[in-house]
Amino acid sequence: MIKVIDNKFIRVDTKNNTLTFYVIGELPEIVYYGKKLKKDTDFTPFLGITDITGVDMRDYVLSQFGKEDYKEPSIKIKNSNGTFVSDFKFVKFELNKPLINNSSLPLSRNKLENICFTLKDETNNITLEIYYSFFKNSDVVAVNSRLINEGTLPIYLNKIPSLQLELKSDYFNIYTFDGGWAKERIRHESTLRGGLFINESRTGSSSADHNPFVLLKNKRGYYGFNLMYSSNHKTSIEIDAYKHARIISGINDFMFEYKINPNDIFIAPEAFMIYEKNEDMLSLEYHDFIQNHIVHPKYKERIRPVLMNNWEGTNFDFTKQKIIDIAKVAKDVGAELFVLDDGWFGHRDGDNSSLGDWFDYKEKTGGLDKLAKEIKDLGLEFGIWVEPEMISEDSELYKNHKEYAMLIPNRKPHLHRNQLMLDLTNEEVKEYVLNSLRNVLNLTKANYVKWDYNRNMSDVYSSKYSSNEYYHRYIMNLYEIMDTITKEYEDVLFEGCAAGGSRFDLGILYYMPQIWTSDNTDPYDRIFIQTGTSYAYHQVNMGAHVSASPNWFTKRTSSLETRFNVACGGNLGYELDPTKFNEEEKNVVKNQIEFYKQNRDIFQFGDIAYLKSVYKNGIGGFITLSKDHKKGFVVITSSSLKNDISLKLPLLSNKKEYRLVGRDIHFTCILKGNTLKNINDIFTKIVDKSTYNLYSVMLSIEEI
Ligand code: GLA
Repeated sequence: MIKVIDNKFIRVDTKNNTLTFYVIGELPEIVYYGKKLKKDTDFTPFLGITDITGVDMRDYVLSQFGKEDYKEPSIKIKNSNGTFVSDFKFVKFELNKPLINNSSLPLSRNKLENICFTLKDETNNITLEIYYSFFKNSDVVAVNSRLINEGTLPIYLNKIPSLQLELKSDYFNIYTFDGGWAKERIRHESTLRGGLFINESRTGSSSADHNPFVLLKNKRGYYGFNLMYSSNHKTSIEIDAYKHARIISGINDFMFEYKINPNDIFIAPEAFMIYEKNEDMLSLEYHDFIQNHIVHPKYKERIRPVLMNNWEGTNFDFTKQKIIDIAKVAKDVGAELFVLDDGWFGHRDGDNSSLGDWFDYKEKTGGLDKLAKEIKDLGLEFGIWVEPEMISEDSELYKNHKEYAMLIPNRKPHLHRNQLMLDLTNEEVKEYVLNSLRNVLNLTKANYVKWDYNRNMSDVYSSKYSSNEYYHRYIMNLYEIMDTITKEYEDVLFEGCAAGGSRFDLGILYYMPQIWTSDNTDPYDRIFIQTGTSYAYHQVNMGAHVSASPNWFTKRTSSLETRFNVACGGNLGYELDPTKFNEEEKNVVKNQIEFYKQNRDIFQFGDIAYLKSVYKNGIGGFITLSKDHKKGFVVITSSSLKNDISLKLPLLSNKKEYRLVGRDIHFTCILKGNTLKNINDIFTKIVDKSTYNLYSVMLSIEEI
């Protein structure tokens, strides 16, 4: 709810919070952001201090270079005369002004209300609109800006804000979610007392290195910041001598200088900020927000099929018969979708060829259309893997169209996984990619597509555009491709993937409602990866598969039940060669899938909280509950059977009683409140005490 007070203050109340702006002066100022204020207060006492030794300490919505502000600015423009000074001043505010987007940038859906601040730099005749958008029954606030060059000369945009927020505090701790291939979104906690902290990607993707999501905490609570952008992002936190933390989030200014001609408009991606007292509540707010405002509405509550993927089972080494054999067992155990992974096209028998040649490798598939049909005739849906943004040097495409590759003339390109990227800034390449995808989808009539991206950018070059515009132009064309294909094939379920989970972000989720979380399927590591991911992303967004033991990558062993228990914390699939199951394993898997299907609404759409104790004492897992929090499941994992500790279960009420029953162990207890004492009592029930690296239990929970 937006309320203008005395034409001086704008107060906005979200579900639990209040955000207030002061709109008199050179720039709008944020005077309050925190838990909901009961009454309409006079906000004057919250106003920032204007002058201590010449430093302006007001918490503005924008910062720029050119006066007394020497901190990281949120906007940086190279003017036509080569200078870098800006002087944006407040012109007006408007309520519920439509945010016009003439670009392919994805923006959040179903907004309720907004405030638009118009600012102007008179010297250059540039207008900047800053939008704060609000959503029904949500604490998430979307912030972004739109720049219009109304002058007669071009300018160069070096930085444009999605969000700027200033917070006052003695200290902050920050969580970032960093990693690399097979160790995505590992939570790191750093203490911020002063100085400049940066969380960014320079890979051309949102990256496994540093996810765009960051969480700040101080004694007041938790502040989350995420960005809907799948390319180079940057969030900086600068704390000054007066304990003001300036948070800026947006497109990374690394190699960014975007020419804005007269009358051109540039729109910045949306950043989503949120404040909550409790970190589990903050995650739930983000989860709901993704389902209500990011993914396509048709996926809001659509249950996802249990899939069988052949990648870890066969790698490139399969025949048509092998695939059919796998699919038959998949059907037998209850899977609903079979996914044919890498290796079905060109002459792809390894990772060194054929990317770009999206035509059937008939000798291997026995005819892809027939194979797809036979799988469907078994009663399964058919899914297929593609990596449309890539090209192999050993491919027909490269032979005929070397100019399609992302290469710098006269420089030997850097290969990763033996492959190059396609130059998506080239319109002809964009069309090629679209047509390749159409051919595959028309041939197979696939129900599902796994869209992979197995390397990052290095040889950034276009003959048409400056390299400083390249990253943004690439991602905008990628969004356009994704938009076109997902609309043309609206019944197909798309899953994003990037060498595991290296492009796990809101931009991809806008088009593809689920993303493969990591190539690391060892539950011991996976519990950390899923816990980190769950901070900002919904469990149904996370692909989570049961694979073979010992794990192909870590060589660790785990029981089939533990692998299943951990995979239930996401969107369940199996990724192994099920023809190798013995009868007992087959029955176990059959029961698992049946059990998952019976409780799928809770596993896929329940309110989930991962156990943060995993970062303290290694006791991990998650609790997922029906929306009324009356029933659900808890999975507890541990790397030791000796856990003489108590565990506080999030989301459960301290004042209620619950019945807990083991899923695959004989255990029942009545829990009074939310603290499970002596969890070793439960772990000692595990019958199989072999040398696993991780043990787990799943208990059902019911309020009594
Ligand atoms: C990436 C993906 C895997 C698999 C392989 C195929 O690594 O993350 O799941 O699809 O590519 O090459």
